[in-house]
Amino acid sequence: MTAIKKSKTYELEITDLAFGGKGLAKPEGYPVFIDRCIPGDLVLAKIIKKKKSWAEGKLIKILKMSSSRHPGKCRYCNYCGGCKWQELSYDLQLEYKKRHVIESLHHIGRLKDVKVHDVLASDPIYEYRNKMEFSCSPKRWLMPDELENEEIKKDFGIGLHVPGTFDKVIDIHQCEIMPSLGNQILETVRSFIKISAFPAYDLKTHEGFWRFLMLRHSVAFDTWMVNIVTRDKRLDVVTELCSILTQNFPQIGSVMNNITDSKSGISTGQEEICLSGKDHIREKLGKFSFKISANSFFQTNTRSCEKLYSKVSEYAGLKGDETVLDLYSGTGTIPIWLSGQAKTILGIEIVKSAVIDAKMNADLNSISNCEFLEGDIKDVLPGLKLIPDVMIIDPPRVGMHKDVVGQVLSLGPQKIVYVSCNPATLARDLEMISTIYNVKEIQPVDMFPHTYHIESVALLLKK
Ligand SMILES: C[S@@+](CC[C@H](N)C(=O)[O-])C[C@H]1O[C@@H](n2cnc3c(N)ncnc32)[C@H](O)[C@@H]1O
Repeated sequence: MTAIKKSKTYELEITDLAFGGKGLAKPEGYPVFIDRCIPGDLVLAKIIKKKKSWAEGKLIKILKMSSSRHPGKCRYCNYCGGCKWQELSYDLQLEYKKRHVIESLHHIGRLKDVKVHDVLASDPIYEYRNKMEFSCSPKRWLMPDELENEEIKKDFGIGLHVPGTFDKVIDIHQCEIMPSLGNQILETVRSFIKISAFPAYDLKTHEGFWRFLMLRHSVAFDTWMVNIVTRDKRLDVVTELCSILTQNFPQIGSVMNNITDSKSGISTGQEEICLSGKDHIREKLGKFSFKISANSFFQTNTRSCEKLYSKVSEYAGLKGDETVLDLYSGTGTIPIWLSGQAKTILGIEIVKSAVIDAKMNADLNSISNCEFLEGDIKDVLPGLKLIPDVMIIDPPRVGMHKDVVGQVLSLGPQKIVYVSCNPATLARDLEMISTIYNVKEIQPVDMFPHTYHIESVALLLKK
């Protein structure tokens, strides 16, 4: 029985990084997980949760810094929920990400002999996100160096959430993972909101006007979409902000207003109005063009996405005469990427607007061999007449529904390429599929530098 007690504070040495990105200490062999620590740190931590076989500690102070720590580029990185690994060198981030994939396969999937390659790195590792969503809040969280400053008003902030709170935001002035012009746009919006007569939306009282600012950037065309999310329709107010933005930033090709009074913290509007320019932004992946609307899903790291899809294409190894089934097809980007390599590709996706975008994007690229079906995969697959040679599967973080695993096995394509953004559900699903498939190899691809998240592509061949 460990001597560690709840609510007590201990001096602990961090020896490893656990999945989920937390530091791991093992006093007397008993695991204690502590957020924002890295191996080699000696820390003072308070035990906030204690279970039979593990505990969670809250970092109070770093007593001795690990030699692997480097100053983060971002001044908020020790407080914001965005990039908790920024102080870890990028090489080490990649090493830990690879290990997390291997360990998940071992411990969750009981798959011990799978070849996992070195992670394909992101380039760039800053300014890599093509989409950011900032929340407006009437409760601004103060940074330690702001606490004493009485001139700072606490009644408005626009930025990212403090982890563990749902209504407090850090007033972010410089986010390092989005392209730098985004920070100037953010600053302009902040100044406008501050002097406007309308308060930020309060998630507790559900009063207030300004909800979110969503920015999208196109790498190929260096243009921007600004999406202002408000609770009510007030065209006089948002049009004024829109004019200021378009006058100051010729790179803005689209200004949208999503309006929603939904009590959940979702930015998709019940109504959407195009205030200026186009109602979408154009982006390219390889030689293909895509129209992306404000609420469509699109991989957030454009350059890494091209690496990911190239790997999908390599693993699919198509010769031109195959029938391909793409499960969880989103806006159709994978079928479009593979369109020149197969006879036909059918994508299945649950979100109606994504299916509409997928069809539009296939037309935009003059592609006639891709089709898209709308529906829940577990309901669509049983009625499917086609027999796929190759199947691509790219599920959300929760992985595949159990029924879908059974349906995939009974369809039994020769080859499956499984794309996953969650090593834990990847391992769980691969174990189920491995009854009749060999997991040949896995290529992790980094889409999210400075976070513990990692994307993986797995190649499975029928036994
Ligand atoms: C990780 S995204 C992959 C999108 C796409 N392959 C890409 O690379 O952009 C997962 C997609 O699965 C869709 N989805 C989630 N659950 C689904 C279900 N039960 N049936 C069909 N599609 C689903 C989501 O709407 C989302 O577009």
